[in-house]
Amino acid sequence: GSCAVVIVAAGSGQRLGHGVPKARVPLGREPLLAHAVKGVLKAGIAAQICVAIPADDAELAEICRGLGAEAATAGVKFTVVDGGADRSASVAAALAEVADGTTTVMVHDAARPLTPSGVFNRVAAALRDGATAVIPALAVTDTIKTVQPANLPRTGAGLEKVVGTPSRDQLRAVQTPQGFDLATLRRAHENALTFDAETASRITDDAMLVEALGDEVYVVQGSTHSFKVTTPMDLLLAEAMLEGPLR
Ligand code: CTP
Ligand code: MG
Repeated sequence: GSCAVVIVAAGSGQRLGHGVPKARVPLGREPLLAHAVKGVLKAGIAAQICVAIPADDAELAEICRGLGAEAATAGVKFTVVDGGADRSASVAAALAEVADGTTTVMVHDAARPLTPSGVFNRVAAALRDGATAVIPALAVTDTIKTVQPANLPRTGAGLEKVVGTPSRDQLRAVQTPQGFDLATLRRAHENALTFDAETASRITDDAMLVEALGDEVYVVQGSTHSFKVTTPMDLLLAEAMLEGPLR
């Protein structure tokens, strides 16, 4: 069956702080979105790429015209849609434009510009082997605590206190591309429309929506190269990786 890749690029990039949507912040010679699209083309797994960009951004729309031409050369259908108010809404908008006859979909962050082909291939392989949901992930290297608000005994100063320490060997840091059977992901997004505002605000990836359906979500090995460019330090690392021997 054929695979579509949704690339969500409609965020504003507040934490990067460039004052322009993160997808068009330059990394080396090209905007982040161009790296993400070219990474998908290089992996050779997509029949269609559907990009969600901010509704009012003429510059990203122009960037997409160039990327659409490159995709066409590779025989890949290229679609651009207006994103939504949060990531989940941007995914839903893009899913609506995925072509008939598509069987699987990967959802990928434009903010992960250096994702290696191997990750796309591992996700694709698990989908071929019958997974209806599969995510790339890495073991966590930090010890992770759960916390809650607390006050210091003497002064009452508001801090947090530790509630627990989940066993690290059960924890994974999750990345994109996340792969799905298309019908399953569409059903998961429809189901999410019934969530209350509080639950909806805690959605940070697509796998959570499939978990809510009770379906199995399989995990394949991610890559340290797939890190998300979120802060200025992340962009510095990405620049160094483009230049240096880690590439
Ligand atoms: N995203 C999107 N639509 C939104 C919000 C986010 O398509 N309404 C996309 C971003 O463009 C990004 C991915 O989701 O590729 C991951 O989001 P994040 O790293 O949080 O990016 P931003 O939301 O742009 O950054 P920030 O949260 O710092 O503003
Ligand atoms: Mg965000």
